[in-house]
Amino acid sequence: MVTGDAQAVVAIGRQCPEAAGWPEESYARLEELGYRGWVAVAGEEICGFLVARCAAGEAEILNLAVKPERRRQGHARGMLRAAMEGLKAEGVREVYLEVRESNAGAQAFYEGAGFERSGRRLSYYEQPKEDAVCMVHRLVP
Ligand SMILES: CC(C)(COP(=O)(O)OP(=O)(O)OC[C@H]1O[C@@H](n2cnc3c(N)ncnc32)[C@H](O)[C@@H]1OP(=O)(O)O)[C@@H](O)C(=O)NCCC(=O)NCCS
Repeated sequence: MVTGDAQAVVAIGRQCPEAAGWPEESYARLEELGYRGWVAVAGEEICGFLVARCAAGEAEILNLAVKPERRRQGHARGMLRAAMEGLKAEGVREVYLEVRESNAGAQAFYEGAGFERSGRRLSYYEQPKEDAVCMVHRLVP
């Protein structure tokens, strides 16, 4: 993801209520914030994005979404693979994330990609209030 992708990325985020609703400015300032971003491209169009942050050998996936009409075409799998390779090359050993308890689709996606459930955060989300399922993927045994 580069600065010029921010507008397309925020437009995808608006179509995906399950994703974190970040303002365009956050995507435009990824580098400054120390975050890493990846986009998926179909034809000429950005159809998905993934944002992570990493520090001290650990990374957290902060946001991931694919346009509704482009789902189940492997775009998220491709972005996650690229992200995991990039993060591993930076020395990341473990990747964490939180996902709404009701978001069964994303949980199935992450489990299929090798993430395991590691816990739960009570009432982690607002509007609506809901628990988070915590997941982890260990890149180095
Ligand atoms: C979760 C999400 C990113 C998956 O994107 P995607 O591009 O459709 O995923 P992929 O096509 O790469 O899926 C890879 C595999 O994950 C699994 N998977 C993906 N979506 C799934 C779903 N809704 N239900 C069950 N399994 C799913 C399947 O095994 C799939 O392989 P298959 O299509 O060959 O069966 C997408 O549904 C999305 O944007 N959801 C809204 C935002 C969101 O929930 N973000 C996560 C917040 S933490």
